[in-house]
Amino acid sequence: MIIGLVSQKGGVGKSTLTRLIAREYANSNWTVKIADMDAKQGTSTRWNMLRNEANFEPAIKTEQYRSVSGAIDDYNKGEVDLMIFDGAPAASAATLQISKASNLIVLPTGISVDDLEPTVRLAHELVKNGIARNHIVIVFCRVGDSLGEIKDAREYIEEVGYNTINASLPERVAYRRSQDVGKSVAETTFKSLNNRASSIAQELIDLIQKLDGK
Ligand SMILES: Nc1ncnc2c1ncn2[C@@H]1O[C@H](COP(=O)(O)OP(=O)(O)OP(=O)(O)O)[C@@H](O)[C@H]1O
Ligand SMILES: [Mg+2]
Repeated sequence: MIIGLVSQKGGVGKSTLTRLIAREYANSNWTVKIADMDAKQGTSTRWNMLRNEANFEPAIKTEQYRSVSGAIDDYNKGEVDLMIFDGAPAASAATLQISKASNLIVLPTGISVDDLEPTVRLAHELVKNGIARNHIVIVFCRVGDSLGEIKDAREYIEEVGYNTINASLPERVAYRRSQDVGKSVAETTFKSLNNRASSIAQELIDLIQKLDGK
C-alpha cells in the first residue's frame, strides 16, 4: 500500500501526519517505510535517526529520494508493506506522481480561508489530472480550540465535494516536543493528546479499508 502526503503550502503538517500514520501501521506489525521527498530539509529522515538512536519502538524505515519513480521502484521490490510519501514543501510535478501512485492522498491543511483555498485548488488540480476524488482526504492540522471554526472549515470542504475526517490535530507544544525527540504525535506524555492524534490515523485507516472494499 502507498499513502501520499502532499500540499500546496509548506509547514501544514505533512511530515507530522506522515510520522503519525507510519507509527500507527508499524504498531500493527506492518513494515513501514517513509519516502522523504524533501531533499533539502530531510525532516523525516532526521526524525527517524533520532528515533533509531533512542531505540523507540516500533521501528520505522526512512529513505530520502530524489525522484518518485526511485521510491516506487523500491516499493515494487516488495520489502515493505506500506510506503508513505512525505511530500516536499511546495506542490510540484512530483505531487501528481505521488498522488497517482497512492491508494490514499492526504492533504493536511490549516483551517483559515488563506489555507483552505490553496488546499482545495490543489485537490481540484489533482482531480483534473485524473485522480479519483474519493481517494483524496483533507485533514485539518494545527487547529485552534474553536469548534465553530473547525465546523465552518468542514462545511466548506464538504460543499466543494471532498472527504474530510472528524478528527483534527490541535496546535500543541507537546506535539512539537514529541517530534523533536523522534516520537510521533501519538507518543506524547499526554494521553488525551495521544488519543486525539491516534483517532486521525484510525479514521484514515478506516477510509483506506472502505476504498479497498469497493
Ligand atoms: N499540531 C501541532 N502542534 C504544534 N506544532 C506542530 C503541529 N503540527 C506541526 N507542528 C510543527 O510545525 C512545523 C511544521 O510541521 P510539519 O513539518 O509537519 O509540516 P510540513 O507540511 O511537513 O512542512 P514542510 O512543508 O516544510 O515539509 C514543525 O515544526 C512541527 O513540529
Ligand atoms: Mg515536511
